[in-house]
Amino acid sequence: MSNKPIAQRAQDIKPFYVMDILAQAKRLEAQGKDIIHMEVGEPDFPTPQPIVDAGIKALHAGKTHYTPALGLPELRETIAQWYQQRYQVDVSLNRIVVTPGASGALLLVMGALLDKGCNVLLADPGYPCNRHFARFVEAKAKTIDVNAESNYQLTADHINQHWDEQSVMALVASPSNPTGTVLTKQQLSDLSQAIQAKQGHLVVDEIYHGLTYDNFDAPTVLSVNQNAFVINSFSKFFGMTGWRLGWLVVPEGYIDVMDRLAQNLFLAAPTMSQYAALAAFKSDTLAILEQRRQVFEQRRNSLLPALENLGLDIQATPQGAFYLYANCQQLLNDDLPDSVALCDFWLKNAGVAVTPGNDFGYSLANQHIRFAYTSDQQKLLAAVERMSNIQP
Ligand SMILES: Cc1ncc(COP(=O)(O)O)c(C=O)c1O
Repeated sequence: MSNKPIAQRAQDIKPFYVMDILAQAKRLEAQGKDIIHMEVGEPDFPTPQPIVDAGIKALHAGKTHYTPALGLPELRETIAQWYQQRYQVDVSLNRIVVTPGASGALLLVMGALLDKGCNVLLADPGYPCNRHFARFVEAKAKTIDVNAESNYQLTADHINQHWDEQSVMALVASPSNPTGTVLTKQQLSDLSQAIQAKQGHLVVDEIYHGLTYDNFDAPTVLSVNQNAFVINSFSKFFGMTGWRLGWLVVPEGYIDVMDRLAQNLFLAAPTMSQYAALAAFKSDTLAILEQRRQVFEQRRNSLLPALENLGLDIQATPQGAFYLYANCQQLLNDDLPDSVALCDFWLKNAGVAVTPGNDFGYSLANQHIRFAYTSDQQKLLAAVERMSNIQP
């Protein structure tokens, strides 16, 4: 291998601890151990059949060439109609960009809005790639410690307190990863006003929309602020992680820059996935997805009290996504001083794989663990049983 240096920006981007856990779990499985996976942030369900069928049909019809960089016009139109149908919000298809996952949308937004040295305000704990995307475009992630008091979300007060001369953007996720907490319409409106007063950009990652519980429907920020940028994806609610498809809604005036960046960074999102996604909003698909949402809700309802019985403290009840973010301080001791050690202990001794808080930031990270309820209920409860049988 050449000894020429790797760019500092790449060196600063660290792997996730969860990848180590996954690799260790795979090794243990190869040795014949039974591992229950609660570390993985993707639905265990396969892609709904109508979407798969539409993808296969597109392949047979030879839909294997590039689409326009902004996406298939029919899909952009279908997404625009979705905003009307689901949220009663008008969004022109001319403001929609189809991207390779929410990841592609995050890259476009950060690339288009952040200059070198600019700050982007993020909640800690939060989705880890956000700070890495910021680093990639030579901007700075200014992480703000949040806790149960603000439902683990950024508030207008946080913006007023932490915004400085370099700040350009605040990025929030609702429902959030790793806490599953949701911003109300009022909170989105307050955040919008605070950021508007600073002449900054608000970006809302709505990737877990559709996966909300207790009759709680996460509002889109577009219902209170048409100048916000919205990230979304077919990965989670629509069960299409491997198809690499998402979208971005931009305010008027920002589509040209996104078109230029998309042309240069990835040419277009995958064509067969875009054709497949045309079936994602059809009523037969939505009926399947609603059933799955109910299954996730049942899992959350049974896992949450079971984890609490184990001595874990879930300080804000998650209203969405498929994660429980739990404080494990009560279970720590001299031998297992932090959440990394506890996760390691559970993996090796109970065959349960979970993710320590340090993947999601720094704020009390070593006292927290994320449990993903992306396995069936029986397995989840078996995992709790195993963990309680080998109390640290
Ligand atoms: C909050 C959040 N945003 C974005 C992503 C990226 O998703 P994808 O690129 O699969 O759409 C994830 C994936 O876990 C996520 O949790």
